[in-house]
Amino acid sequence: GKGKYDHYMLKEINEQADSLSNTLGGRITDDGDVDLEEFPRGTFDDVDHVEFIACGTSYHAALYGAQQLQRTGIRATATIASEYDTATVTEDTLTIAVTQSGETADTISALRAAQDAGAETVAVTNVVGSSAAREADHALYIRAGPEIGVAATKTFSSQVATLTLLAHRLSQDLEQGTAREDNEEFFAELQNLPEYIDEVLETSTAEAVGEKYLDKNSYFFIGRDNEYPVALEGALKFKEITYEHAEGFASGELKHGPLALVTPKSVVFSMFTGENGEKTRKNAEEAHTRGADIVAVTDDADSVHEFADTVLHIPETHPDIAGLLANVQLQLVSYYTADLLDREIDKPRNLAKSVTVE
Ligand code: M6R
Repeated sequence: GKGKYDHYMLKEINEQADSLSNTLGGRITDDGDVDLEEFPRGTFDDVDHVEFIACGTSYHAALYGAQQLQRTGIRATATIASEYDTATVTEDTLTIAVTQSGETADTISALRAAQDAGAETVAVTNVVGSSAAREADHALYIRAGPEIGVAATKTFSSQVATLTLLAHRLSQDLEQGTAREDNEEFFAELQNLPEYIDEVLETSTAEAVGEKYLDKNSYFFIGRDNEYPVALEGALKFKEITYEHAEGFASGELKHGPLALVTPKSVVFSMFTGENGEKTRKNAEEAHTRGADIVAVTDDADSVHEFADTVLHIPETHPDIAGLLANVQLQLVSYYTADLLDREIDKPRNLAKSVTVE
């Protein structure tokens, strides 16, 4: 059941420290190496490039994951499953289907196409024995526990965490792979992630933020690098459960078109979690000049006070992990906004938890 929570979504958001501990449990050794029992050393010796296929929230996790693979020197792309094309698949392709349910028709059909074209395949999924898990050559479980709310929350965090582990394992097998320079720090911080998430959950002011901007008519989300998939995910979650107009952009793209949409009736959630904060600041300032309210997600409130109307604080951590903390703040903003609007949060109109048609 939902326990003390009004909705499964809020319960699942609050479960994230535990579900992540589960995802990571036993998979990182004391000396900072990754141990995935599914994949003994050498499993991927023949692989030359990696492609992710996924839909919706899982696609955003896949984009984040592809960036993490690139950090370890691996050629990786992420494609929306319904747009997948096998033209560049060879027998050295590793195709990774990311799907919480393991039953999404678009994803399964892309997975089959990849197999037919000769790729080796992995399903990264939450559901043991799901179609994706059965059909792919290998299954890697995210171990997030059952997710009831239609809006994917804790499974996004567990997907991304799992893909960062997989990135490290692949970097050991693939010829072009190299360990991250900051390997030790990265894995130490990854293991601290559940603790940081609890800190966000305990201190978040997202409810007040939701209330403050209820009368706006457009909600934009911007970020760069791994904040970009989080911006897409923030906007998807927001539109899915509030039914308000929301869009996510790469920060740098704002000036290439979307800025025309920005008015005093807009809010721009801007992420400042990585090393490119100075550039995002300029983008946010442009929106601020057009009268939009800026909500900055940052570990350093002092650096944004000149243009940010509101701050959502996250603990300081490794930039590749900070996107996940920002995402939790955005999940909470979407939840509380939808709750204030009295939406049917766990079962938004027109949507299904598992989309079994193409
Ligand atoms: O089960 P899957 O991860 O394959 O589902 C893919 C999408 O339908 C799903 O992530 C959807 O976008 C979410 N419910 C959005 O919150």
